[in-house]
Amino acid sequence: MVPDPASDASDIREVDSGRVAIIGAGHVGSTTAYALMLRALFREIVLIDNDAGLARAEARDVSDANALARPAHVWAGDYPDAARADIVIITAGAATQGAQSRLSIATRSAEIVRQCVTRLMAEGFSGIMIIAANPVDLMTAVAIAASGLEPARVIGTGTLLDSLRLQHALAHRLGVAPNAVHAMVIGEHGDSAVAAFSNVRIGGLPLSRFQPDWSVADEAQIATDVRNGAYRIIEGKGYTSFGVATAIVRICEAVVRNEGAILPASTQLNGESGISGICLSLPCILGASGIVRILEPDLDEAEICALHASAAIVRKALASLTA
Ligand code: LAC
Repeated sequence: MVPDPASDASDIREVDSGRVAIIGAGHVGSTTAYALMLRALFREIVLIDNDAGLARAEARDVSDANALARPAHVWAGDYPDAARADIVIITAGAATQGAQSRLSIATRSAEIVRQCVTRLMAEGFSGIMIIAANPVDLMTAVAIAASGLEPARVIGTGTLLDSLRLQHALAHRLGVAPNAVHAMVIGEHGDSAVAAFSNVRIGGLPLSRFQPDWSVADEAQIATDVRNGAYRIIEGKGYTSFGVATAIVRICEAVVRNEGAILPASTQLNGESGISGICLSLPCILGASGIVRILEPDLDEAEICALHASAAIVRKALASLTA
């Protein structure tokens, strides 16, 4: 268990411990509420949305399943209720349409995220914030700035979802279980994401040892599939929800259980892997106090270049957002 630096008595907050709040009751928020209930991580799940009717309906729909799960009170609330939560998840933001890039909705999403965070902090929130609104690396930076929280307490879902997609793609190709594949995507959660194939291990073996005929062409094709995963889903159903909701639940689990889990997450970088002043995904140790430590992965030359190119794209997008 990771020693929780915030565990001394001075940290006693006015909280209803065992409560999580989700701001945004759309596809991602409602799916997250459902997944959190099934995972039985919280005694209370509060849904908040500008459309109070939607929040009430989604809370009621999820509650209908509670008799077959561990007891949880799922209800529609407001910002004062969220302020007393251990964890607040922000899914509210603009949504991409079709082949639109995530960066293209940054301005509209930033307005929404800034407004949500400002209202939440005005009610005295001091817990852990998880950001899932896109473009998530920029929205994590917006939430850190607007909240004034210590950056470690603001966790962007980042490339955790991309990493799940990479694990699944490699598992399918190599004939093993997805959880048997150690694989991470780093950088932007977006078109410049970097699949760190040099770090992939299957049963402790690197790809070249596990699959002797593995080729650079294989990697390129899988990297493209992973990077375009969301677009394929959006083509068919108009949005994505299950993958990102499960990534959010995994982050909640690591925080609530103070696991010391190592997961890719978007966070403010201060020189790690030679990157500063933006939020981007690197492997992080997650515990009760949020991001406990940011790890700098060993990368090959091509991966280092791709990571810095990704950082340059995010930095340029952040600069135009905050101009
Ligand atoms: C996706 C969205 C969450 O990649 O960006 O599915």
